[in-house]
Amino acid sequence: MNRLTILGATGSIGVSTLEVVARHPDRFEVIALTGHRRIDLLEAQCRQFSPRYAVVVGATEASRLTHALRGHKTEVLFGPEALADVAALPEVDTVMAAIVGAAGLQPTLAAVRAGKKVLLANKEALVMAGGLFMAEVRRSGAVLLPIDSEHNAVFQSLPSGKILGAGVERFLLTASGGPFRTASLERMASVTPDEACAHPQWVMGRKISVDSATMMNKGLEVIEARWLFDMPAERIDVVIHPQSIIHSLVQYVDGSVLAQMGNPDMRTPIAHALAWPERIASGVAPLDLFQVAQLNFERPDLTRFPCLALAYQALSMGGNAATLLNAANEVAVAAFLSGELTFLRIAEVIQSVLETVPSAPLMTLEDVLAADTLARRLAQEQLS
Ligand SMILES: NC(=O)c1ccc[n+]([C@@H]2O[C@H](COP(=O)([O-])OP(=O)(O)OC[C@H]3O[C@@H](n4cnc5c(N)ncnc54)[C@H](OP(=O)(O)O)[C@@H]3O)[C@@H](O)[C@H]2O)c1
Repeated sequence: MNRLTILGATGSIGVSTLEVVARHPDRFEVIALTGHRRIDLLEAQCRQFSPRYAVVVGATEASRLTHALRGHKTEVLFGPEALADVAALPEVDTVMAAIVGAAGLQPTLAAVRAGKKVLLANKEALVMAGGLFMAEVRRSGAVLLPIDSEHNAVFQSLPSGKILGAGVERFLLTASGGPFRTASLERMASVTPDEACAHPQWVMGRKISVDSATMMNKGLEVIEARWLFDMPAERIDVVIHPQSIIHSLVQYVDGSVLAQMGNPDMRTPIAHALAWPERIASGVAPLDLFQVAQLNFERPDLTRFPCLALAYQALSMGGNAATLLNAANEVAVAAFLSGELTFLRIAEVIQSVLETVPSAPLMTLEDVLAADTLARRLAQEQLS
């Protein structure tokens, strides 16, 4: 039995993870589930999977859930420490890290420090704390497996997940281009949150949907790939591929290019990582190449999608830049979703924060959290 904690169980990735888990009751046991605001869904998940613990962030949500689960075996806990505790429980083998944004950093790090098998969906944790995060992985011996479909595809296209000595030349990270791939700047100036969240290929949470629409998601993924695989940014390219059938490619020195393909459904990378190094059914329909018929590729347009350029810039700046980029982006996206900021202003807010804060090294987790807090404050000031 593989015993699981799912951080962010009520989100898009969390729900897909539980769908895969439900297909294999003989393989997986759910020990802990966490959520934040969707308490009704978390209650339903607790009734279906009977975890030992359910964790939420706030006391109000905890008392609602405790009331709803009266007489049920699940114990309800709350607060940031409880999130980290269930990620590091001795009886847990595998942690799905699927909280969105910087809020996922501490519990994901707790899982890493406890040497768990960590399935990383929460890319922001790695973007904001890259070098420190990977140092903890090496120190603890945690097994880190990528859930992001692009990184999972790269992982599958590398020999045993290794780069060094394997003759790897470049990574080609594919991007759908999002809902505004062909939109003019004039059109993008007036898009609404619902239009930005209407992704043509993937069904995802609202923050990552907006990130896909600005292409910051791809930028965050370039930074994630740099840290996960220790690959220099100048050897990571982004290729627009509207059909989202090829999830990424690895180019080798001998001219070979290996790609991982499949229907765009997160249950495939989730099932891959849950069972790795074995394979299990995910519930995803087999790929029908005759129906796909055509695969197209385009260069990204950095004029209409400046967030992608900002992410490359943050990588080359090093130090605190990616942390600042991530925090400013979270504030700007939240403001866009709540109608306080226009779509094209998202990149401007991030750029201004990157230009305002002097470059500084990140030596400790406290440095990371301080840079995150500073960037949030400066980004908030930009909104008013
Ligand atoms: N969705 C995808 O297809 C996809 C693909 C690749 C990578 N990812 C990455 O996976 C992560 C999750 O994405 P998602 O689309 O699943 O997001 P989502 O649907 O918005 O779900 C986010 C999860 O995090 C919880 N949460 C939100 N704020 C929290 C906080 N402050 N403290 C603790 N928990 C909090 C949410 O709880 P409630 O819902 O109960 O409020 C929910 O369980 C992101 O980092 C994203 O970039 C997602």
